[in-house]
Amino acid sequence: MRRKLVVGNWKMHGSHPANAELLAGVLAGRPYTLDVAVCVPFPYLSETAVTLASSDLRWGAQDVSAHEQGAYTGEVSAAMLAEFGCRYAIVGHSERRAYHGETDQQVADKARAALNKGITPIVCVGETLAEREAGHTAEVVKRQLSAVIHTLTHCVGEIVVAYEPVWAIGTGRTASPAQAQEVHALLRAQLQAATAHAGDMRLLYGGSVKPDNAAELFSQPDIDGGLIGGASLKAADFIAICRAG
Ligand code: 13P
Repeated sequence: MRRKLVVGNWKMHGSHPANAELLAGVLAGRPYTLDVAVCVPFPYLSETAVTLASSDLRWGAQDVSAHEQGAYTGEVSAAMLAEFGCRYAIVGHSERRAYHGETDQQVADKARAALNKGITPIVCVGETLAEREAGHTAEVVKRQLSAVIHTLTHCVGEIVVAYEPVWAIGTGRTASPAQAQEVHALLRAQLQAATAHAGDMRLLYGGSVKPDNAAELFSQPDIDGGLIGGASLKAADFIAICRAG
C-alpha cells in the first residue's frame, strides 16, 4: 500500500514573518494521516529545517544543480541541500523548463544528482494546452519520463513523479480526476516496464489542487497525493488538502 504524500511548492513566495506563520499553522494542523512536506526557496531552508526538525513534516528545495560542485555561479548542489536536511528536491518543474530552458536530459541529470546525495527528486512532467489539444499528451509525458528512466536505470524506483499539466498550473483550471488518472495510469505502466518497484512509487498530481477538489483527485487509483502551489501558501487550505488523503 502506498502512503500518500502532499508537498507544498512555495515557488518564489515568502518572507521571514510569513514563513513563520505558515509553518506554525501547518504544524498546528497535525496529526496528518499522509506524508507532508514543503519545498521552500533556498534562503529559507535553514529556518524551515529548524522549525520542522522535531516534527514528522519534511522539507525540500525547488531545484538542484546537476553538477556536484565547481564554477557554477548561482547553482546549489545536492550536497548543500543534504546539509540542510532536505528530503526532497523538485526537478523539472514546468516553470523551470519554460523559463530556464531545462531539457529532459538536464532534468534527468538533476534527478540523479539528488539521488546520489540521498535526496528524493520529485520529477515533474506535463503537457501544455497546445500539446493536449493536438492529442500529444501521452507522447510528451512519456518522453519526459523516459529521459529519467534511462538516466537512473535501476534507481528509478526511488523517485517521486509529479504530473502537472501546464494548463492547470496557477490557472484555477484543474484536470478532472479522470483526466489526471488516465495520465497517471500510463506513467505507472511506463514505470512498470522499467522497475519492479513501480507499484510502490508515489505519483503526485499538481495543478490548481484546492481543498474542494483534493479528495476526489487523491481517491483515484494511481494518484498518490499532490504537489500544491498557490494553496500551499495558506495554512488553512494546505491543512485541508493534507486531510483530504
Ligand atoms: P498551483 O497549485 O498554484 O496551480 O501550482 C501547481 C504547481 O505548479 C505545483 O508545483
